[in-house]
Amino acid sequence: MQNEYKVQLKNITKHFGGVKALTDVTLQIKKGEIHALIGENGAGKSTLMKILSGAYQKDSGQIFIDGREVKITSPKEAKDLGVAVIYQEFMLAPDLTVAENIFIDKLVDAGMFINWKTLKVKAKEQLLKLGFNDIDPSAKVGTLSVAYQQVVEICKCLTRNAEVLVLDEPTAVLTFSEIEKLFSIIRQLKSEGVSIVYISHRLEEIFQLSDNITVLKDGTYVDTVPTSSISKEELVSMMVGREIMQLFPSRQVKISDEILRVENLNAGKLVKNVSFSVKAGEVVGFSGLVGAGRTETMRAIFGADSIDSGKVIYFGKEVRFKSPKDAIGNGFGLLPEDRKKQGLLLEQSIRNNTTLASMHKIKNKFDIINHRKEKEYVKNLLADINTKYGSSEDNANSLSGGNQQKIALAKWLSADCKCIVFDEPTRGVDVGAKTEIYKIINNLAEQGVGVIMISSEMTELIGMCDRVIIMRQGMIAGEVDKSELNENNLIKFAMGV
Ligand SMILES: Nc1ncnc2c1ncn2[C@@H]1O[C@H](COP(=O)(O)OP(=O)(O)OP(=O)(O)O)[C@@H](O)[C@H]1O
Ligand SMILES: [Mg+2]
Repeated sequence: MQNEYKVQLKNITKHFGGVKALTDVTLQIKKGEIHALIGENGAGKSTLMKILSGAYQKDSGQIFIDGREVKITSPKEAKDLGVAVIYQEFMLAPDLTVAENIFIDKLVDAGMFINWKTLKVKAKEQLLKLGFNDIDPSAKVGTLSVAYQQVVEICKCLTRNAEVLVLDEPTAVLTFSEIEKLFSIIRQLKSEGVSIVYISHRLEEIFQLSDNITVLKDGTYVDTVPTSSISKEELVSMMVGREIMQLFPSRQVKISDEILRVENLNAGKLVKNVSFSVKAGEVVGFSGLVGAGRTETMRAIFGADSIDSGKVIYFGKEVRFKSPKDAIGNGFGLLPEDRKKQGLLLEQSIRNNTTLASMHKIKNKFDIINHRKEKEYVKNLLADINTKYGSSEDNANSLSGGNQQKIALAKWLSADCKCIVFDEPTRGVDVGAKTEIYKIINNLAEQGVGVIMISSEMTELIGMCDRVIIMRQGMIAGEVDKSELNENNLIKFAMGV
């Protein structure tokens, strides 16, 4: 009889030094199914997929493809077996063009004989197929937004005619219309018989898309269930081992004086005549499609990019922060969306990363760091948001994706800001930890901090914000008050209908 499974990972175990990332984990993927792989941050999802893709070597266990045991000892072997992976952290070459990245394997194989013109035309065809006609095949990948980089990554995998496609949190950087496109591509591939492993912390997506779900917890296998047989609540309690009563905790705040007012701000191509204000204790959301100018607006105010014209009024006085350092010195913080490039120093310790913006709290009056105090402080702060790590002396890049995000956030929580911008604060963070982050944001608001929250997750904006401003093509397209917040209203403004 022909084997029912395309891929079987059996009894996989993997250590990293003292950390047991996977213990005896089994995952079986049928032909032409969409199989969701879920679990909390650090559960071992990415590690398991990296073993399948040849990026990591397992300590023990077996891998079967089409019922035949295979040895995967390098990414090339996995590729030759028809396995393609879209990683959580991109693997693109920023200095190569879009077209070069998409056909990078072919470039390597073809050696010197490359027809650049055909390459660009073919890349354009692929991008069109995905519905992204506005990505220029000759643009350098490093100049694209993270969302578009993701699209390039997907294109690259699709040209390989993979039989097994793994997507590790592919939508973390996409907004709704792009997610729709991605989903239709995934469904198309499924109908062509491709087996898909889909990793995501967004449970709505899991229910929309998957046929079966496997849950991992702390590096062990919990269960595999048909998606149709389980409710969201049951799934969450399987993942976190307890029930979460309220995803969006409530807050008691008296919204008071205006902290920040921006008038007719212009900055570069993506910020046009933007005006808005934020009051103490208020949580103001920013919604919109990728490329709508939300990040660019905040970066300009923060002093990271230059302002062409317009006014920034902060505590009643007109200011123009000269640099992020200047902004931070004045109590204005910003958690960037791209933790890999801007949010974290990956080659430095978890401790360093956490205390970077709050040195004053652990220094004595002679400016000397109290190391005992620092360690204690880091330990408490990270425990508050349930961060999973070995030692605070380990480098930040040893952490799972979601735990890196928590460190990037922790840095700002301790910085005593009066106004703070969170750009995609829960990207890649598991449900349990999301609630922790929401509690922290509420806490800040309750202390009178003015909070700006940019998010691509509409449910999050609806659950957390006092009002939401929608940007579209660099301009403010509308504003929706808490009482009228729903997905329809947000989409309407964002799409301009
Ligand atoms: N290169 C590495 N060196 C050391 N430890 C690692 C390495 N890669 C992963 N780990 C550890 O292995 C465990 C599993 O990590 P993994 O990245 O697989 O989690 P995940 O389920 O993908 O989490 P997330 O949802 O946050 O992406 C974590 O404790 C992580 O810190
Ligand atoms: Mg991961």
